Order: sequence, then C-alpha cells, then structure tokens
Amino acid sequence: MNSLITRIEGHIDTLSKFTATPGKGTTRLTYSKEDRLARDYIKEKMKEYGLQVREDGFGNIFGKLEGTLEDAPSVLIGSHFDSVPNGGSYDGPAGVIAGLEVAALFAENQLTPKYPLEVIALIEEEGARFSGGLMGSRGITGLLSEEDFKNLRDKDGISPEEAMVKIGLDPSLPKKRDFQTIKAFLELHIEQGPILEEKNIPLGVVEAIVGLTQFEITVEGQAGHAGTTPMERRSDALVTAAKMIAQFPTLAIEEGDGTVMTTGQLHVYPNGANVIPKTTVFTVDIRSSKEEHIQTVIRKMKDLIESYNGDGIHISARQQLYMRPKTMNQDILTLLKQTSSALDLPYCSINSGAGHDAMVLSDFTEVGMLFIPSKDGLSHCPEEWSDSRHLANAVQVFYETAKKLTEAEEK
Ligand code: GLV
Ligand code: MN
Ligand code: MN
Repeated sequence: MNSLITRIEGHIDTLSKFTATPGKGTTRLTYSKEDRLARDYIKEKMKEYGLQVREDGFGNIFGKLEGTLEDAPSVLIGSHFDSVPNGGSYDGPAGVIAGLEVAALFAENQLTPKYPLEVIALIEEEGARFSGGLMGSRGITGLLSEEDFKNLRDKDGISPEEAMVKIGLDPSLPKKRDFQTIKAFLELHIEQGPILEEKNIPLGVVEAIVGLTQFEITVEGQAGHAGTTPMERRSDALVTAAKMIAQFPTLAIEEGDGTVMTTGQLHVYPNGANVIPKTTVFTVDIRSSKEEHIQTVIRKMKDLIESYNGDGIHISARQQLYMRPKTMNQDILTLLKQTSSALDLPYCSINSGAGHDAMVLSDFTEVGMLFIPSKDGLSHCPEEWSDSRHLANAVQVFYETAKKLTEAEEK
C-alpha cells in the first residue's frame, strides 16, 4: 500500500508540472505543449506497466492489456488529462492515475484477464480550448461527428486538426470506436464538493450525474466614442450582457431543486477603455438533476434574450452541449459497494454536480464511478487537493472490480 501511495504521489507531482501557468495552478489545454508533455509521461507509464499503447484520431490515449478471449470487449478505466485555466492537479489526472495503477497491480500480481483491460486518458473534457467539453468521449461514441470536430476553432481561430499536427498527433487515425469493443467503463474522480470530507467518508459511489447544457451568447450592438455619444443614443453590447447575466441567478433559484446557472466566460470587443462595446460573447452553463428544470431555464433564458433584442441590439444563442442527467449501471454499483465493504472501506452513495466522461459513455456501456474527498470541497482552482491514501483506496476497489469484470486469473 505504501509503495502504491508513493507512486500515486509521483504521478500527481509529475503531471502537475505540465502546466502553462507555473505557480498559478494547472493550465493544460488540449493539444498544447503541456498536453504533449503529459501525454508522453502517460504513454511511458503505460508501456512500463506492460500495456500496448495507441492513440486515436482525436489524440485520446489507450493502453491495453490483452485478454485471452479472442475479439473480446475491453474493460476501460480512466478519465481525462486536460484542465480548466488555472485549475488543480487532480481533476482528471486522478482518474487516469487510478487506471494506470490498476494496470500496475495486474502486472505485479501477474494476472491474465479473459477480457482486455484498457487504461484510457481522454482529451478536452473541460472544453477549455474548443468549447462544449466531453470531447474525447463524445468523439469516440460518435456524438461529436468528425465533421463537427473539424469545424471547431479555438479563440485564435486554430482548428483541432492543425493543433494536433503541431504536437505530432495524427488526425487521420480512426476516431469513432465500435461499441462492441467496450464491456464496461470505470472512472475515478475527485468529488469537487464538500460532502465526503464533511461526512468523513473516504469513498463515494456515484449514483447519478446531473444533466447539463452550455450556450454561447453573442450580443451585437454599436461601437462608438465613450466621450461623445450621449447615454440615450447607445446600443452598448456589454451593458445589455450585464443586465441579462444579472438575472440568471434568479432564473436558477426560481427553478429550485439545486438548479444552477453560471456565466464563466465573457469577451468584450473591441475591448477599449474609451470605446462603447460593439460585441460581447459569453457562456451560459445550466445544470440540474432533473431534465425538466434545464428545459424550463433554457426557455426562460430565450424569453430574456427576446426581451433585449431590438433598439440596435441583436442577440443570438448557440447551444454547444446538451447532456441529459444520467444514472450509473446498477450491477456495477452493486459490485463497487460489495468490493468496498469487503475491503473494509466505508462508502456512501453520492450524486455528481459536475459533468464527466462517464455520463457520455453510460449510454453505450455499463459505467461505474467512484469519488474521493476533495479538501475544503474545492476544485477548478489551484487549491484543489485530495489525499493520495484516498486515491489508493479507490485503486484497490477498482483493482478488485476490474479483476471480476475482466475475469482475470493468476498465472
Ligand atoms: C467539468 O468539470 C464540468 O463539470 O464542467
Ligand atoms: Mn473539471
Ligand atoms: Mn473532471
């Protein structure tokens, strides 16, 4: 157990160094130099742990331990390895590391699985570079078409394919994955909230993941001189955006049931101190455990947009992501709970307020998810921290679960 914890800490420390903002948290955008460095490390560890490594046409990484059954579907374990701007060291990497360490235990104990074990490291879950998010999992399942992938652009107008080539990836490799090749998916993630820490419980078995949607709203007004244009003659795109954004919390609160609504990104053009803003582009992220709440908030947001349209202002909304709330697979949940009990690890059931690749894959295969406590409930910030001992516990549970799912035997 001690060597497992030491290895986990080594992975976390190393991966956290691949950041574009040293000293200010992890900023690892998809297909960036830091992505390249993290991917090289993950691939090197996969090889060291006896896995056959391949990448797909999105740059997702797969490390496979072959099974003895011919053409059998794989048990996947992993998560994503990109980050939000100035995020932490655990959101994503914790799950990739869990996968790596399950593979290390398979190697250490010389297990031969019947069904292959595949450690996966997915790209662009956060959507920090190309928007929308969950891109690796939406890509392999075909929810994001190759055409739509090609047409994405980052804030500098760079396409994913251009960015891939720049770090030596091959976008012409196969993209969509045949579902027949997947038997199950296990994802470990930090909780990103305060519940497990407050209850002093080391493991959360995820029952459901909230539904979520993201929009990009563009407000077009008229640029003008900040000194000479009378107040009543203005069509100010930023003032309009600010009025709308100020009403969002009320829309979410009125809906209740934990419905939340966030504007986390706002761009102002031309962004001059003495120029009336011509254009603002901002994001809206709406989440709820009940789909009807998401639908109602979308409708109210559209009504709000209509009410501000006109008088020199034009507003448009583009939906970038829509995911229904998802429940995890009951058989896998039972297996995770039984395994935790057998290992004497206290657990509780928990729901996820964050989106995860598990929610995409749950429509295509049997999915199970574990949470470990987050210090002070913090995430998506440099202070994000989880205890490596908790991560090691989760690795033990996934190892035992993966042994059953892959029907592994000792040589
Ligand atoms: C990912 O962290 C998300 O919940 O948006
Ligand atoms: Mn995240
Ligand atoms: Mn995550």
